[in-house]
Amino acid sequence: MKITVVGTGYVGLVTGTCFAETGNDVTCVDIDANKVKKLSSGQITIYEPGLEKLFERNLKEGRLSFTTSLEEGIKGAEVIFLALPTPPGADGAADLSFVLNVAAHLGKIMTDYKVIVDKSTVPVGTAERVAAAIAENCKTPFDVVSNPEFLREGVAVDDFMKPDRVVIGTTSERARKVMGDLYAPFVRQGNPILFMDEKSAELTKYAANSFLATKISFMNEIAILCEKLGADVDMVRRGIGSDDRIGKRFLFPGIGYGGSCFPKDVQALVKSSEDVQYNFKILNAVMDVNERQKLFLLPKIQNYFNNDLGGKHFALWGLAFKPNTDDIREAPALYIIEALLAAGATISVFDPEAMSNVQRLLSNKNGKIVYAEHQYTCLENADALIIATEWSVFRTPDFQKISTSLKNKVIFDGRNLFDIARMKELGYHYESVGRIPVSL
Ligand code: UDX
Repeated sequence: MKITVVGTGYVGLVTGTCFAETGNDVTCVDIDANKVKKLSSGQITIYEPGLEKLFERNLKEGRLSFTTSLEEGIKGAEVIFLALPTPPGADGAADLSFVLNVAAHLGKIMTDYKVIVDKSTVPVGTAERVAAAIAENCKTPFDVVSNPEFLREGVAVDDFMKPDRVVIGTTSERARKVMGDLYAPFVRQGNPILFMDEKSAELTKYAANSFLATKISFMNEIAILCEKLGADVDMVRRGIGSDDRIGKRFLFPGIGYGGSCFPKDVQALVKSSEDVQYNFKILNAVMDVNERQKLFLLPKIQNYFNNDLGGKHFALWGLAFKPNTDDIREAPALYIIEALLAAGATISVFDPEAMSNVQRLLSNKNGKIVYAEHQYTCLENADALIIATEWSVFRTPDFQKISTSLKNKVIFDGRNLFDIARMKELGYHYESVGRIPVSL
């Protein structure tokens, strides 16, 4: 099938590459000429495990190409995916101007039947608005379909190639057939393609992410309670997770969720609810808890250093909002850095992938942040180590090296990486989330 993907950001590039991998002829369109030039010459623009190999192969074999021209990009295409940014506007609602502008442009240039697919996360009712924007100037029949993505950064290729489910929102039989054929290779193992109306598909995406965010904030509150009552959240997590109805996954407490999806989508669903005069109480609490949780370690650090962080130097491991990505959007580490600097401390940081992104973002704080070459050089002369992201390389570190590099054997762990008994044995002051602290 000939497919066009408009927008070569994270979702667009993964979508385009994976559809090319199953034999489709994919053209990706982006207004950023620089990006198109880079991608056309074989330079990948995002970090996502496993993607580069597929990208290079499909580019070389001619199934994947890039252009800045929408006219050229949609020539002969049966399906056009819109994978455009929908950033939160000032009022928290998703800003649809990119999507609607491209839709209006498509209406002017389409000359035969096409299925236009909303891949971006968009508020309920967007498919209707996209259809209206296209219809204004369009002379050919078309259908607009909502097909939300459920990709997790770091495992996006796997999520795309072997989805738990594919959600397709359309009431058109013709579009349903096209989309069903396109996704058939991805659900051979028997996972479902769920056909539904456009609005239900749009809401499914927000409901899924909001539910997962709720699970996390719930566990973060249980962790707080564990500390106050002297219980261990690891035990409680296992205790509840073995009930099938609750499930083992997504019950890990920590220093809050970040990334490009959860914060934005929860906020957007709260806003959509307000628009129809509904106060979505649980989600407001989910957001509040998450904001507080990002700075969960701060009082512990303050307390250990007698409320005087002036002149202290900290080592921070982990900047990305989660492992296996260089994405720092809404990353808890950034909030910790800001708070420590505001309290008069200095910081050395290390992350396997996200260093240059943070360096760029915090360039105004040069001099106060040291960007360490290595996770162990990061520790030199630090009063304590803080862990903000659970990268695998941090999970079984060389504790000998840690203790010789740090000034004090003190670790504040926002991701519960180490065994409490082990830390006791090694003689660390070790504080984590929702577990009994180890005191020096
Ligand atoms: C999420 C959804 O999982 C995905 O389906 C959707 O398409 C986009 O949003 P992503 O943002 O890539 O994906 O990250 P995910 O792996 O889901 O983690 C989100 C955040 O939750 C991270 O900050 C992570 O640290 C946090 N998290 C996750 C927890 O704090 N505890 C958990 O148990 C799980």
